[in-house]
Amino acid sequence: MGNYDSITTCRICRSGELFGFLDLGDLPAVNDFQDSPTDVAQTYPLETVFCKDCNHVQLRNTVARATLFENYTYFSSASDPMVDHFGDYADTITDRFLTADDLVVEIGSNDGILLGQLPDKVRAVGVEPAHNVAKVAEREHDLDVITEMFDSDVASRVETKYGRAAAVLANNVVGHVDDLRDFAVGVDTLLADDGVFVLEVPYLVDLLNDGTFDTMYHEHISYFCIRPMATLLDQRGLEIFDVERQPVHGGSIRVYAQRRGGPHDRTGYVDDLTTLERHMGLADVETYDRFANQIEQYRERLTGLLEALARQGTVAGYGASAKGNVLLNYCGLDSETIDYIVDTTPAKQNTYAPGTAIPVEPPSKFQEHPPDYALLLAWNYTDAILAKETEFREAGGRFVIPQPKLDVV
Ligand code: TYD
Repeated sequence: MGNYDSITTCRICRSGELFGFLDLGDLPAVNDFQDSPTDVAQTYPLETVFCKDCNHVQLRNTVARATLFENYTYFSSASDPMVDHFGDYADTITDRFLTADDLVVEIGSNDGILLGQLPDKVRAVGVEPAHNVAKVAEREHDLDVITEMFDSDVASRVETKYGRAAAVLANNVVGHVDDLRDFAVGVDTLLADDGVFVLEVPYLVDLLNDGTFDTMYHEHISYFCIRPMATLLDQRGLEIFDVERQPVHGGSIRVYAQRRGGPHDRTGYVDDLTTLERHMGLADVETYDRFANQIEQYRERLTGLLEALARQGTVAGYGASAKGNVLLNYCGLDSETIDYIVDTTPAKQNTYAPGTAIPVEPPSKFQEHPPDYALLLAWNYTDAILAKETEFREAGGRFVIPQPKLDVV
């Protein structure tokens, strides 16, 4: 097993009242694609805990961030629906908050998928620790990118160089952060007095409702709902004034925050979601116990189905997603059952999915050697992929959709 640290207190409120509810076992890092089928990926424990005080759901263990993000294979722009999503996002924040020459800093700017779609009139700066991904943002979108892991020190340096930002953005990144309190200090440092902090995170409500445990992995340390997020922001004098549910990553929330008493009126959506969370039992230990039981039953159903299908025909994977690697590893599925996985990301092609020895191939393999069944591991893009792969289905191929509801179509 590889190196990792364990927490004894909550990353947000420092309470020691942590309740462990879901143990997925020892799993490889989901983006640790291997060069050869005999290479063995390092594994790390994957256990989720619930803070009985502030209700924050988080992993017990922290795998060194450098181990996970140094050679990152997640390029946001590899998936067309994400490009559209961030195009709309760029339009929304431009219309609502930005004027000419405003500074926008995005933490975790990836390949520039959002900053690259902002109008030229704003000054955009990215912070992105993965060198290979940051390079793409610089090359394709001509962006200024600080290739470092964001923390309060990096924030001070960005602030010294560029000034304070009208908008600080953080999409699918707050959940990756171990030291959340320091991260919040950094946001506080960078944000102009009347600035907005806008972030997107997968929403715990959707995760629990849909049973999408496969979005829980070492990169994702935190699983947010409104209440713990508000507690974290409040520690730095920030308040949430608006929130929207978004369909991406299996269900997310976009949270809008400002300094307490800032210029934006609070919308009713913040209270609506807080009420929904209370009614769903997000403050109760029993809710999480029920969820864990559901996941064990799901494993039996999926493995039973795939073993039966593999006896009738060939099975391939579609999309070598991170969540797909959790699903395969937790369910003990490997190259015995799944012949290959196709993926559009060049960096993943001609590798082997971590922990499974299943080869990852370019999409052409799917056209040239279509399987009888395709396990849709990028299930968050089900609509787009079904629309794209009509030929496969017309020729008799069938998709196994593993999440949010197990289905064969
Ligand atoms: P994604 O769901 O974006 O993220 P994560 O890795 O966090 O679970 O991953 C989807 C993967 O599927 C990504 O590697 C790109 C790939 N993909 C395809 O191969 N074909 C497609 O048509 C789409 C939409 C995605």
